[in-house]
Amino acid sequence: MNGEQFSSELVNALRGATRVVALTGAGISAESGVPTFRDAQTGLWSKFRPEELATPEAFQRNPKLVWEWYAMRRARLREVVPNAGHLALAEIERRVPTFLIATQNVDGLHQRAGSRQVLELHGNITRTKCFSEDSPVAEWSETGEVPPRCPRCGGFLRPDVVWFNETLPEEAFAQADAASRACDLFLSVGTSALVYPAASLPLSAKAGGAMVVEINPESTPLTARADHFLRGPSGRLLPALVRAAWPGVSEQLPR
Ligand code: OAD
Repeated sequence: MNGEQFSSELVNALRGATRVVALTGAGISAESGVPTFRDAQTGLWSKFRPEELATPEAFQRNPKLVWEWYAMRRARLREVVPNAGHLALAEIERRVPTFLIATQNVDGLHQRAGSRQVLELHGNITRTKCFSEDSPVAEWSETGEVPPRCPRCGGFLRPDVVWFNETLPEEAFAQADAASRACDLFLSVGTSALVYPAASLPLSAKAGGAMVVEINPESTPLTARADHFLRGPSGRLLPALVRAAWPGVSEQLPR
């Protein structure tokens, strides 16, 4: 079994599942070289203060600093590619009748790995919106001013991501919550399970009777409530799990 020992209960549950939801967080992109937020040495919040960079108040205080921080992260993302964990989730989507990813990540790596049903709970760093109008802006003129200005109202543009003190896209969260309540298997992958309301999704799944599986090198507040805790990096464990559930059909997955 590729060196990984999964319980037959788990492998059979994945193979037989008809509705699967995966909640993903920064950890699934770690092996692509995208830093997480809360890992002690390498996480973004060990070097930067969220209240200076990821709140509407921070943007109002220092829009240039915030715009440039996101521009730096966007530039780094252009250099990374999806890893085996992202590819394994795309493979599960091809095998399971109803499958959905609810991601807290803004990096677009699930879509680049071939996943189709992806709900972006915290937005997408490659999109831009107007700070005052709160509506998407696809084109603007580069005058050298940072941040650039909204072509409609002249206000500042900002990344289309969800900051602290902001609400999640209502429709996306409602869909994720409904799917979690109705699924038979829920995967929580690479998230510290600390930030609500995303962190409520595995609990909704459990309340709905789903098997909850957590994949993470570290335990989290969810671990004690998960039915299975697979300790380790998702880039190794997810492909191994897919190969265990569907031997032979997933040879194309990287090892
Ligand atoms: P965190 O940085 O809080 O947690 C990342 C998790 O990934 C940790 O539990 C790590 O142990 C785990 N991890 C690290 N390497 C991994 C690997 N190779 N495979 C699997 N797991 C690994 O990131 P999130 O839970 O995504 O929001 O954080 C949630 C939200 O808080 C983010 O969307 C962001 C952040 O502040 C905003 O910016 C609004």
